Amino acid sequence: TKKLILDLDTGIDDTLAIAYALGSSEVELIGITGTYGNVLLEQGIRNSLAVTDLLGHPEVKVYQGLPHASTTDSFNVKPISAFIHGENGIGNVDIPDSQRMPETESAIDFIIDAAKTFGQDLLYVPTGPLTNIAAALKKAPEIKDHMGNIVLMGGALTVCGNVSTWSEANISQDPDAADLLFRSGADATMIGLDVTLQTLLTYQETKQWRDLGTKAGNFLADVTDYYIKAYETTSPHLGGCGLHDPLAVGVAVDPTLVTTLPINMQVDVEGPTRGRTIGDNTRLNDPNKTMQVAVQVDANRFLKEFMFRIGGLAAQ
Ligand code: BDR
Ligand code: CA
Repeated sequence: TKKLILDLDTGIDDTLAIAYALGSSEVELIGITGTYGNVLLEQGIRNSLAVTDLLGHPEVKVYQGLPHASTTDSFNVKPISAFIHGENGIGNVDIPDSQRMPETESAIDFIIDAAKTFGQDLLYVPTGPLTNIAAALKKAPEIKDHMGNIVLMGGALTVCGNVSTWSEANISQDPDAADLLFRSGADATMIGLDVTLQTLLTYQETKQWRDLGTKAGNFLADVTDYYIKAYETTSPHLGGCGLHDPLAVGVAVDPTLVTTLPINMQVDVEGPTRGRTIGDNTRLNDPNKTMQVAVQVDANRFLKEFMFRIGGLAAQ
């Protein structure tokens, strides 16, 4: 089995990403590294600990990452999407705090150690800003040649952003970190809005979880209903909520869920389009393509996998 690290700003779809990973026997979730975004770092860590407890997996270790981008100071970090994810990141649903603490080793050192220990067998799935992996690549650049695929949720190739005209939420928080990763030569697959906005969940599916009558089923249904409701307000044309973060986990587990193109992506770090991801036209003829960008998704198959894996976990 491959080893998996999730790097999360634990909001609602990050929570569903945890559930998808725990419901997938092909991978072993060896740790969650915390980042900021949907909520502040501390709240995200709290959610990751509480959610893994509630889903019956208190063995999953949680590591503290960096609290903000290197270009921001701590006074300017704010949760970016309380409206979408709730003040507490999990749809304002109240669940017991974990008795566990985050690990004392930092997220950065944990990522570096795991890359050295597991090499190609390590899958790393960041579904928030890319601050932690950028810091790890800065501290130990050699890990890019050791570790397996980095399947990141963020950015967009063919559509506009979701927090501004240009920028997707995760990349917008730390464009410089994304730039560092995209230039690093690490083996990375970008799961952007192009595909994640095609994988949608509705009340019909959350009802199936609620009907299980379990604690986990009720929790997942309650948080996801909050998220669907927010999407009804912000993006009524979609007819459901975007399964952004779980799709990245889905692809890490089974890359055939998406079709990708080898493209060297660029991140705009200056000017009015700061945070935009776009194909780098200076490297169009570069034979060395490091990044794969998802351009098509088998949404029906993903949705089936999603319900199967999470349903199995929630039924226990
Ligand atoms: C991304 O932004 C966050 O709000 C979600 O958790 C997801 O990772 C979508 O743009
Ligand atoms: Ca996220």
